[in-house]
Amino acid sequence: MYTEHEELSRREFIKGVGVAAAAFSAALGSTAAAQEAKAGSDRLIRVGIIGPGNQGRKKLMANAVRIPGVKFTAVCDIQSSNLEAGLEVAGEGAKGYEDYREMLDKEDFEACIIAVPLNMHAPLAIAALQAGKHVFCEKQMGRTIEACKDMLRAQRASGKLLQIGHQRRYNPTYHHALKLMKQGVLGEITHIRALWHRNGSWRRRVPNDHPELERLINWRLYEESSAGLMGELGSHQLDVCNWFLDSTPLAVTGFGGLDYWKDGREVYDNVNCVFEYPNGVRITYTSITTNAYDDYYEQIMGTEGTLILTHEDEGLLFRERRAEKLLWEKMAHKEEVGGKQAIVLDASATPKKKGEARGPGEALGEKGEQEDPYYLELFDFFRCIREGGEIFCDGEVGLRSAATCLLANEAMEKRQVIEFNEEHFAV
Ligand SMILES: NC(=O)c1ccc[n+]([C@@H]2O[C@H](COP(=O)([O-])OP(=O)(O)OC[C@H]3O[C@@H](n4cnc5c(N)ncnc54)[C@H](O)[C@@H]3O)[C@@H](O)[C@H]2O)c1
Repeated sequence: MYTEHEELSRREFIKGVGVAAAAFSAALGSTAAAQEAKAGSDRLIRVGIIGPGNQGRKKLMANAVRIPGVKFTAVCDIQSSNLEAGLEVAGEGAKGYEDYREMLDKEDFEACIIAVPLNMHAPLAIAALQAGKHVFCEKQMGRTIEACKDMLRAQRASGKLLQIGHQRRYNPTYHHALKLMKQGVLGEITHIRALWHRNGSWRRRVPNDHPELERLINWRLYEESSAGLMGELGSHQLDVCNWFLDSTPLAVTGFGGLDYWKDGREVYDNVNCVFEYPNGVRITYTSITTNAYDDYYEQIMGTEGTLILTHEDEGLLFRERRAEKLLWEKMAHKEEVGGKQAIVLDASATPKKKGEARGPGEALGEKGEQEDPYYLELFDFFRCIREGGEIFCDGEVGLRSAATCLLANEAMEKRQVIEFNEEHFAV
């Protein structure tokens, strides 16, 4: 005998990718079938980018140029090497600028991608919105809570779209995991452990003949331009916590320090935080730079199971001994991990019935390389521009994640418990 809930879980699980796709498309308010039906669904969108550096060029441009109907017509960077490299990816006809204001004044592109150091997100995004562009801005949304709120205000005043680059929000594996979690396979969620552990200095090489570029190239290491490990790494993972728990934290405390890489940097090289969420859920978050054994993952713990999302592309489900067996467990793909049996979440393995509607994540996932969540987040950004759709990872989401991380930094600096209130998360 299986409960109705278990039977539903079984059917949903067997549907495999359908689970992820359904969640993805429901969340995004779209299906590929609907997209195809829309006339002009691949009409040309002219795009400008500010900051074709590591992320802007190697991830965002590299993926965006594969999306049908997307053309970079303008590229802006204050570092000539990155400007040239960005123009190369943009291809024929793109114009280069060192000054973003000049680019925004002169160029009539529709969408602007912003991938510059954190403290420049707000001024550039606001300028682009005021110039009438739809904006895709990398995470963390802004250097301060007020900067994020200014971005939101500018977005609302402009009537344009603003998307923040938390790519996990567009990852079919995460949608699959959330759907299973909502079905109750973890029981009651009581704890989350999220972490990102590395062993390295986080320092980038500065060319010998250009020592003046140190602060620009190593912007992550300095207070003015960076919110440190919480902003760069934690903001993705705390966004997952806010998303999966459908809430924001009540309080945070923690310890952090600059204890190992004492090389003139200003941000902590290790952070250790505890967040309290509603219903007694507690989250521990750590990010360190002196030991990479744990790597990175989000581990969601409930009374009946544990879900581990790791490397942004793998989901493992471990059922507790006390949990009642689900029928579909027998059929699930399993692996032995650390002496325990794990059910492997595979958001793209199971074939679909012919003619069944497909969501964007799923339809794209079929094409291998296009499973890349950077592709998926950008694809959906352009889809929303073309169809007038709602952005899934919008400025409100970005603000909630940023506020979560920025107050954690404040708690560590003051060595206090900081209580959150509604004002932190809303404009
Ligand atoms: N989503 C992710 O997983 C992810 C991963 C890495 C980085 N990022 C984000 O991407 C952004 C960029 O990070 P990165 O590693 O590519 O940094 P980067 O230093 O490699 O690139 C930033 C580029 O911006 C340029 N720039 C700085 N100020 C500028 C200005 N005023 N006008 C024009 N260009 C300017 C720099 O010259 C540089 O080329 C950051 O917000 C970072 O948090 C996101």
